[in-house]
This record gives sequence, structure tokens and C-alpha cells, in this order.
Amino acid sequence: GITRHYKFDIGMQNVTRLCHTKSLVAVNGQLPGPTIVAREGDQLLIKVVNHVQDNITIHWHGIRQLQTGWADGPAYITQCPIQTGQSYVYNFTITGQRGTLWWHAHSSWLRSTVYGAIIILPKRFSPYPFVKPEKEVPIIFGEWFNVDTEAIVNQALATGGGPNVSDAYTFNGLPGPLYNCSAKDTFKLKVKPGKTYLLRLINAALNDELFFSIAKHSFTVVEVDAVYVKPFETDTLVIAPGQTTNVLLKTKSEFPNATFFMLARPYVTGLGTFDNSTTAGILEYELPSKSSSFLTNSMKKLQLFKPKLPILNDTSFVTNFTNSLRSLATAQFPCNVPQTVDRRFFFTIGLGTNPCPKNNTCQGPSNSTMFAASINNISFTMPTTALLQAQFSRQSNGIYTTDLPTKPLIPFNYTGTPPNNTNVSHGTKLVVLPFNTSVELILQDTSILGAESHPFHLHGFNFFVVGQGFGNYNPNKDPASFNLVDPVERNTVGVPSGGWTAIRFLADNPGVWFMHCHLEIHTTWGLKMAWAVQDGKQPNQKLPPPPSDLPKC
Ligand code: C2O
Repeated sequence: GITRHYKFDIGMQNVTRLCHTKSLVAVNGQLPGPTIVAREGDQLLIKVVNHVQDNITIHWHGIRQLQTGWADGPAYITQCPIQTGQSYVYNFTITGQRGTLWWHAHSSWLRSTVYGAIIILPKRFSPYPFVKPEKEVPIIFGEWFNVDTEAIVNQALATGGGPNVSDAYTFNGLPGPLYNCSAKDTFKLKVKPGKTYLLRLINAALNDELFFSIAKHSFTVVEVDAVYVKPFETDTLVIAPGQTTNVLLKTKSEFPNATFFMLARPYVTGLGTFDNSTTAGILEYELPSKSSSFLTNSMKKLQLFKPKLPILNDTSFVTNFTNSLRSLATAQFPCNVPQTVDRRFFFTIGLGTNPCPKNNTCQGPSNSTMFAASINNISFTMPTTALLQAQFSRQSNGIYTTDLPTKPLIPFNYTGTPPNNTNVSHGTKLVVLPFNTSVELILQDTSILGAESHPFHLHGFNFFVVGQGFGNYNPNKDPASFNLVDPVERNTVGVPSGGWTAIRFLADNPGVWFMHCHLEIHTTWGLKMAWAVQDGKQPNQKLPPPPSDLPKC
């Protein structure tokens, strides 16, 4: 591989959407930010310079970061944030991965405007395991808020209620013609007839899973989270925040007399308020430059087609879609799902409450409570210094403990009647894993305040989704149906509403690795933890010392 240099200048930028101008934090003045293009095996040196008042870090979502945990990016987990006027060079090599990933800010809610695509091309002379596309197009789904996003998180934290909802969803930063005052801000995908296009889809929305479809066209899904999958056809897909999906789009063989809308709108299983609007883009057949008058005339009588999307809470569509995702599992692209397990964990994930502080007005589930979220009833408290530095210097005292319960302390009916006491406990609690531990983890949704789907993201690893089901996980029965042949390999999985997901991964990457719900409000409420993976014995199994420019707290 080669070394590629990028520079990210974090600055304030005035952006107008929905006839509303706001000053937002952006990279190099762009929304979405710049696309990173590299090849498998390349080294990336990305210098991030912070010119704004907020502290910031950047996370390279889905990059394995083998022995480069210092470059992973979550604030106070692997590094202290980059302060105003300071810079940090993220230095990592792309090992064994090719496909679509993305990068985003990983401090407070800055990722609402600080995000962009990562395109990893296969090594030279190693073709895609599918037809070579005419063109490759990243489409990033985002959310637009008329108000300042920092104000939203502050409001949510102060009142303990749900966050303000976004004012629009976007394709590559553009809300599209179904919103007021937005027709000129419409994403257009120009295509030729009879060709195959590779769409690199990324869900960068803060709080919503999304359905996506293009009228009268279907997709072939070929990759998720930068891992190839067995190709399958679908006319609609669902994508959770954090996930990426590559699809092939085959265009019609002739110029159609029509314009085709592409639409995205949310899949929601929880209670509360959310943005239930629809973003639209246009698939436009490009006329040849010497367009004949015949074509021009016929194009005047255009029909408009809109796709039909599943209803808001269509969990059966989502279940069918996710069940279709399988690893390629070929000789060239094997599925390395661990066949044996060293350690098993059972994590309940879901919402709960904190008591409302005296003399405060709270908007939680009742007036005397605020919303919280937890894993095995522990709501994660953010430390004030980076956990990875504490682990590396063996000075965890007063910073973190390693006693996160590995199963619920008091088992209850997770998807049935909730326990009387919905309050959570608090702590900065990690789980230690010796190098090369083979882990099986059951993520069980709870319905303490109503069941809800949670897109769970693990830093530093891909995992294999070996099982999934509804209701309470049954350790005596459910493992019999685990897929240990071709389970999908990914970094973010939607744990079904009122159900469970079983994942396996090999802890072959020393460092501190964050794991959290990728719905930003749930992360804020404490639905997160970290794994402390120890060094191995060999020199190439140890985390090297921190780079000299690593920011200080
Ligand atoms: Cu894309 Cu910790 O997140």
C-alpha cells in the first residue's frame, strides 16, 4: 500500500436549508465532509485541525484499527478531545478491509454535521466479486436541524426528556422537494440506460433507522459494513445509524418517459416524538449530449413515480431483510466466525430512569424521573480522561473499574411486565478480555419503558451475527439454531425491538474498545460500555505507545 495524506480543517460554516441559515461545525467547509478514498493496505495520515470553540474528535467508523487504538477517536475512550487551536494526526493502516465505511465526529452531538464517506477500494488487480459498475456513488443519509445541535443535547439532558426532533432527513446534505423551501436542494443521481451503478449507502442520521427505495427499480445488495455478502435482490432496504450498505442499481435498458423518486423515511419502534418526514432525491436518466428532438419532446410528458415504503413500524420487513444478509463464505472471502467460545456474556440493553433532581422540572416518563439507559442496569458514566491512556499506563484507579456485570444481577422477564423499580445504577465499568478471547455476546432488548430496536456498534472489531430472535433469549434452546456457517459479518447490528441478537467476535486487537447504541440520544443516556482487551505475548500483539501529538485533557 501507499501513504495517503488528508487535512481536515474543522471550522464554522454558514449553511442554508429549508430557508433557514445556521452556522454549523463542518470539515473543510463542506456538508457532508470530504470523502476519503484509499485502497486496502494503504496507510492514512489525516491531520485534524480544530478551529472552533468546541472540543472535537473524529472516529473512523468500522475501521479495524489493528494495533492503532490511539487513532480510533471516541472522546474520553481512546483519546482526550482536540481542543481549540490544536491538531492531531490520525495514523492508521487499512488491513483486510474493502468497501464503504464512514467517519464522524465522536464528541457530544457534533456528528450531526461532521461526517463523510470512506471508500476503500480493493487491492490493485483484485476485482469486485460482482459486475464492474459504470460508476460508484456515495449517498449519505443525514438529519437536518434548524436549531443548533448542541442546544438539542443540552435541552435533552437538562429536562431528562426526549430530544428535539430533526426538521428534515437528507441525501448528501440535501432535504429535497417534499420539504418546504427545499426544491432547489435536491440530490440528483444522473444515470445512463442499461448500466450498473454501485450505490454506497451510509446512514449518518443521529437517531433514526431508515427505509430507502427508488421507484420502479430494484437493488442487488452486495456488501454491508465493508464486508461482501451473498448478493440478493430487494426493492427496499433498511439501514440503521452507523451501518453502510453497497447495492448495485441496474438502470432500464432504454430512456424511460419518467422521473423516479428515491425516498427515505424512518423505521421507528419506540415511543416518543420523532421526525416522521420523508426525504426525496431524483434518479434522472441523462440524455446524450446530441439529444434528438424526439427525446426532448417525449421527455416533456414525464410521469413522476414515487416508491412505496414500508409502514413506520414494519418490523417484519426489517426481520426479513436482515435474515437475507449472509457472508459470502467462499474460498477467497471466507467467513471466519469463531467456532468455539471462551467467554459468554449476556447484556440487557434498554431504557430506564434516573430520579429527577430536587427543584428541577423533568420531562421523563413521569414528572419525578428523567430518561436513562443502561447495560445490565449500569448506565455508563463518561470519564474525564481517556480510558486507553489509563489502561496503557496501568493507572485505572479512580478512572474506571472492571466489574461490569456480565449478566443481569436480578433476572426478570425482559420483554414482559417491567420491574417496579426502573432506576438505573451508574459507573465507568469495563470488561477485561485477555488477548485472543473468543467472545459470544447476547444483546437482549428490554421493554422496561417499552421495547425498542437498538443499532449496536462495536469499535475495533467486526462481529458475526450468529442468531436473532424475539422475546426472551433461551440459553437452553436458542443456540441450537445459531448460524456458524455464513453469518453476516459487520460492525453495527439492529437488535430487534422486544428481542435479542447473538454475536461472536475474536478479541485480537489490544486496546479499549467502545460499544454503544448508535442512536445518539441512547448513547447520551448511558447505553454504552467498553472492552479492555489486553496485549498478547508477541510484539505484533501489543498496543504501541501513544503518538507524541495525542491530545491532553
Ligand atoms: Cu459510529 Cu462510536 O461510533
